[in-house]
Amino acid sequence: MNPFQYDFGYGFWWNYGHLLAIVPFGLLALAAWRLGWPRFVAIGASIIALWGIVGLWIVQYPMRINRPLELPTERFLAEGVGRVLDGGAGSGRAALMVLRERPDMRVLAVDLYSGYFGIDDNTPERLMRNAEKAGVADHVEAQVGDLTDLALENASFEGAVSAYVIDHLGREGAERAVAEIERVLKPGGQFLLMVINPDGWIRTAYPFFVHHGYFGGRTNHDRWRGRIEASGLHVVEMGTVPGTLWLLAEKTQVLAPTI
Ligand SMILES: C[S@@+](CC[C@H](N)C(=O)[O-])C[C@H]1O[C@@H](n2cnc3c(N)ncnc32)[C@H](O)[C@@H]1O
Repeated sequence: MNPFQYDFGYGFWWNYGHLLAIVPFGLLALAAWRLGWPRFVAIGASIIALWGIVGLWIVQYPMRINRPLELPTERFLAEGVGRVLDGGAGSGRAALMVLRERPDMRVLAVDLYSGYFGIDDNTPERLMRNAEKAGVADHVEAQVGDLTDLALENASFEGAVSAYVIDHLGREGAERAVAEIERVLKPGGQFLLMVINPDGWIRTAYPFFVHHGYFGGRTNHDRWRGRIEASGLHVVEMGTVPGTLWLLAEKTQVLAPTI
């Protein structure tokens, strides 16, 4: 439960920006109630401070900005053996999610590790420090690479996960990334896609960003299902968790011909 155990590197504004509503407006509300200032000042300041508290809680707890993610479905790699690709691994929230639930697996964490996607000083070293804190560093390898053009062999992974990455790549980039994931999965392999869902949680915590389309406007399962299935993968389960749409897909098993 401790939000300070790991350092996933999301910047101050994403992590703690709500303090700017909580502290000054909380103090203003306190003064207004105590000193009998006009009611609209007391009520207005209280509402803003309360929104800040709720927003901070949403970001830290249901959205887990500074903690490993939670596996949204037990069906993902239930056998728990083999290799998993974490595409766009960043500082490791999804890699740790997999290894906490599937400790015998090995994760290859691939990321551009350049450009800005919310994580300050995004480096493979930060991911490895988090893996060490979780006690799983010997099951993780971090590699610089492009999810839309992976330097990895065909059919070499039992599973793949990608959290909050493919929704940043635009339509063409998303299609290329899903095609690459399909290519590197073994027959029967599974892909867990997690993307931002501007739902009530996100709208409450980050209303200004949603309003300005920062999270890509509306999204839905059908759009992502279409993109995944165009690559040849088959979606077997879908759902939501706070701030997130997730889809679980499988690569068709090639059945040996019967003679
Ligand atoms: C919002 S962060 C998500 C990181 C991590 N999956 C998480 O949930 O905390 C997006 C990540 O995708 C990476 N990324 C963006 N485009 C990429 C690409 N074409 N190939 C590999 N990684 C990419 C960024 O460098 C960044 O680390």
